[in-house]
Amino acid sequence: MSVPVTTSLPAAGSASDPVPPAASQTVPPAAAASSPPSTDAGPSPAELLGFVRSVASDAELISSLPLDPEGRTWLRLDGPGGSEAWLIGWPPGTGTGWHDHGGSHGAFATASGTLKEDSLAARLPTEGWKTLELAEGVDRERQLAAGEGRAFGRHHVHEVRNDSEDGHAVSVHAYYPPLPLMRRYSRTGAVLRLEQVERPEEWE
Ligand SMILES: [Fe+2]
Repeated sequence: MSVPVTTSLPAAGSASDPVPPAASQTVPPAAAASSPPSTDAGPSPAELLGFVRSVASDAELISSLPLDPEGRTWLRLDGPGGSEAWLIGWPPGTGTGWHDHGGSHGAFATASGTLKEDSLAARLPTEGWKTLELAEGVDRERQLAAGEGRAFGRHHVHEVRNDSEDGHAVSVHAYYPPLPLMRRYSRTGAVLRLEQVERPEEWE
């Protein structure tokens, strides 16, 4: 089976069906070229990783991000080649929850503190389901200390947290194309549930 997940509500075929490209229906007109994101001539995941690592080493820029003990803070950056980029501050105990990136690929790097990423080594069907039961063995976990980063493809699903009890973390993120949407999920054991689809206007 090509996709190591099973659908509990198979609304649009079985989990082993080919996954259609996310681009044709989800990319807004401004970003919708005739090609899907994977063939767009924007910065590659590796190039975005180079960018976020470089920014993460810019101590002056990193220190310009206001930090708030009550919640995460954001500062928008100019990403390379039309990408979307952010500096994010994470108080102890904060995290993103499970989400995807609407078909964009990207990269992030920790500038200070340590972030933990939980991710899925499985490609989820993009549309047509509300809950999925994840197969055993698809969970991945990594710690990203200051100076460490990772790139990810356009089907990446993850959550990122600052598990520190007393220290802020700061990280740099870049996405290409600019995020057309984000799907947010809840997770109970092996069951992943689609909770919300957020559009850029909701996080401006
Ligand atoms: Fe993310």
